[in-house]
Amino acid sequence: MTVTEETAPVSHYERIGGASSVKAAVELFYDKVLADPDLAGYFADVDMVGQRRHLALMLTVVLGGPNEYTGRGLAEAHQPLNIPVAHYAKVGEHLTVTLTELGVPADILADVQTVLGQVQDQVVASGTRPGV
Ligand code: HEM
Repeated sequence: MTVTEETAPVSHYERIGGASSVKAAVELFYDKVLADPDLAGYFADVDMVGQRRHLALMLTVVLGGPNEYTGRGLAEAHQPLNIPVAHYAKVGEHLTVTLTELGVPADILADVQTVLGQVQDQVVASGTRPGV
């Protein structure tokens, strides 16, 4: 029997395999972000557990998984970090490459881009924007 998307709406998070797949993605994503000289500095004072937790939360949010996060809002957590749009875009690229390497289907990747666009204004610094 075929279970169609109409009868059983399944989140992208579940479609890619849930928590265990997200854990695998975090490992790959983590290596890319921490190896990027433009990005590593943001996480220099955050312990490894916190860094992995951050990436797992990011992935869960963009994949529409269960949001068990009850901490600070995205703007509250990121505005003090003064993240320029270029660095936000780099994190998004590392994320897209990671998911592509893991064989995540194109329709999910497209939706991830949409979510990245939706939360950008909360994460990227809203103060002075050089060049804008
Ligand atoms: C889709 C985009 C993103 C999402 C959904 C996201 C999610 C989160 C969440 C939920 C927190 C709060 C963690 C906590 O307070 O426990 C957080 C904190 C943080 N985020 Fe993000 N983030 C995103 C993008 C970014 C980017 C682009 C950067 C850096 C270039 C970044 C760097 C950080 C740092 C350094 C913290 C503070 C970690 C700490 O102090 O423990 N985030 N993020």
